[in-house]
Amino acid sequence: MAKISTPLALITGSIYAFSKFAPLHLRQPVLDLISPHISDGALSNLLLLCAATFAITTTTKAVLGVSGWFSRKSENNWVEDKYDWSKELVLITGASSGFGEGIAAKLASGGTKVVTIDKSPLGPQLQAYQNVHHYQVDVTDWEALDATNNQIKADHGDPTVLILNAGICHRIPIINKDFSKIKSLIDVNLTSQFAMLHQFLPSMIENNHGHIMSLGSLSSYIPIPGAADYSATKSGLCALHEALRLELRHIYKADKVRTSLVHPVWTHTPLIRDFEPDLKIKGLPTVQLDETIGPIVEQLYSGYGSTVVIPDNLGFATGIRGWPHWLQETLRNAFNPHTGK
Ligand SMILES: NC(=O)c1ccc[n+]([C@@H]2O[C@H](COP(=O)([O-])OP(=O)(O)OC[C@H]3O[C@@H](n4cnc5c(N)ncnc54)[C@H](OP(=O)(O)O)[C@@H]3O)[C@@H](O)[C@H]2O)c1
Repeated sequence: MAKISTPLALITGSIYAFSKFAPLHLRQPVLDLISPHISDGALSNLLLLCAATFAITTTTKAVLGVSGWFSRKSENNWVEDKYDWSKELVLITGASSGFGEGIAAKLASGGTKVVTIDKSPLGPQLQAYQNVHHYQVDVTDWEALDATNNQIKADHGDPTVLILNAGICHRIPIINKDFSKIKSLIDVNLTSQFAMLHQFLPSMIENNHGHIMSLGSLSSYIPIPGAADYSATKSGLCALHEALRLELRHIYKADKVRTSLVHPVWTHTPLIRDFEPDLKIKGLPTVQLDETIGPIVEQLYSGYGSTVVIPDNLGFATGIRGWPHWLQETLRNAFNPHTGK
């Protein structure tokens, strides 16, 4: 919205201001140029339209700006906190590929100490960094995860930033998919986040400092046919984050512990490999990894928690459940990647 409204306001505002306030010797040649092609009545209607568009876009922009400010303040309990990125300890799950690896590389290159967890070995992008410490563990092997997390605390102390990113997705419709596969997907995408919170939230609460960021997905609002279990876990993360923020505020009184839930659109990583041919055929929006990593790291560096939609012009999708059902279904049909092949 902001991307369109700024140029629109500039163009329409300039046309209207020129027509009203420019000196006659500048206006007259323009009038001479267009008057053979447009009647006086049509011209004054056009100028009225410019004035109205300018008024609406600038007012909308101002309202959205004020609303965004209130959102940021209220999501962060109206309190400020400082992050010293040379002292913070960031823990990222699922960091041997895709987003996790990209975020870890960006933070590590800025000098921040990063602990990575993944069931695979350290990713190639991260091998050169002395400030990246890798622990190879399956986040659904609860005993091994517990032992690893205790080891991390012993080796490095308690993380101040937790990026709960590990996730899997299979393209298999509900009844064609083994129940055990569905259960393990739920464990990776949702249950493991509770396990990580159990381990690392207490020290954040005690110090009243920290940021918990989870990788959600736009599929929590526009579910993916063929990935119902995946979409359900991402919707589950919405409720987890809303409840977590309330618990931090009302139960634990930790008003400086930030929470962020990030909803990226389809991003080219190994996770979406099975969908890519159909996404291309249907012309659905996809982004490159860098376009997603940038806003995620920006959000961390801002020191505020928030709901982040990437790209931000798809932010409207988070309101879909309040729409009339025919409109919800229309949007979900339009974003459905299934080509019927
Ligand atoms: N890509 C997208 O379009 C997209 C869009 C919205 C949200 N997201 C979310 O973003 C997050 C990261 O996705 P990505 O696209 O970066 O996927 P990715 O490239 O497949 O990376 C996921 C990483 O998590 C690891 N992992 C999977 N299961 C694990 C387990 N049980 N224990 C430990 N590590 C495990 C994977 O290891 P292996 O490689 O060994 O499996 C991989 O290194 C996920 O939560 C995903 O749902 C992705």
